[in-house]
Amino acid sequence: MQSKLEQLKSEVLLALKSIKNKANLEELENKILGRKNGELTNIMKGLKDLTDDERKIVGQLANEAKLEIEAVLQTKKIQLSQADWQTNLEKERLDITQPALPKIEYGHFHPNTIVQNDLENLFNSMGFMVLDGSEIESDYYNFTALNIPESHPARDMQDTFYVKNHEVDSETPWVMRTQTSAMQVRALQKYGAPIRAIVPGKCFRNEATDVRHEHTFYQLEGFVVGENITFAHLKGVLETVAKHLYGEDTKVKLRPKYYPFVEPGINGEVTCFLCKGNGCRVCKNTGWLEIFGAGMIHPNVLKQGNIDPSKYQGFAFGLGLTRLVMLKYGIEDIRHLESGDLKFLKQF
Ligand code: DAH
Repeated sequence: MQSKLEQLKSEVLLALKSIKNKANLEELENKILGRKNGELTNIMKGLKDLTDDERKIVGQLANEAKLEIEAVLQTKKIQLSQADWQTNLEKERLDITQPALPKIEYGHFHPNTIVQNDLENLFNSMGFMVLDGSEIESDYYNFTALNIPESHPARDMQDTFYVKNHEVDSETPWVMRTQTSAMQVRALQKYGAPIRAIVPGKCFRNEATDVRHEHTFYQLEGFVVGENITFAHLKGVLETVAKHLYGEDTKVKLRPKYYPFVEPGINGEVTCFLCKGNGCRVCKNTGWLEIFGAGMIHPNVLKQGNIDPSKYQGFAFGLGLTRLVMLKYGIEDIRHLESGDLKFLKQF
């Protein structure tokens, strides 16, 4: 019996050497100490068949063997969990000397879009809807409907790209719209009065390009038509825009100017945001920045929009969106904006 116990102990020690994980350890533990058929358990169970004297000696030896075996199994258990812990650590290892992953670049808005979104929000807050016209426009909506009859000298104010044989209607001339004002009569015909709308968007002119002139640029047209709309409403809106852009202390100066589609027509200047009116390079030492054309909508334009001028009045204004962008970011050459040059665009 004694030798059987010794054999069991060395069997356990041998088996332990090849054990690599907890599951195998549990198996071994069960094989030796398992309640039902464990080898040592069976020996313990057999004690009852021995004589009293034998049982005393063998019982003690068996108990000692049991304690020893339990101890080595416990030690192995601890070793295995330490190993587990270490492999986990290894998995979580962070090599701080490794080169950084390439930086992920996210897209962002073009400066035109930034300023356009800002103004759309402002006008939305004043109850204006935002309309989007088409960039190819009929000569009628771009000029004729806006009180600029054919062969009127006012057409010469805007150098126009004409589109030949436009598929929608090749009989009448089509143009790349020279102004977003072209949406005025379309909107009046579609929605009637009362109406408040803005039309931000691309316009095109056949310009000789330089730092201040580009064939493609952005305008923001706005108009309000309703009963009892006066010049005071126009002034109020222009002042709100000016203060939103350049701060509460900004002043607005309105001077008469001829535009065929408004009467009276004005040109709007605001105090220069940089020098506050004292004169600097941004305002060319005048203290003022010209940023809008505006006026009371001409009755002929209302009539083209099927609006009765004896019942309704309205005002319209055109903001040079591209100009606002250039002023905001100090862009010295307008041609950067449509260049698609990433070196330029990445600055915003
Ligand atoms: N569309 C005009 C332009 O391109 C700007 C303008 C002036 C718009 C007066 C208006 C206005 O609505 O009333 O020069």
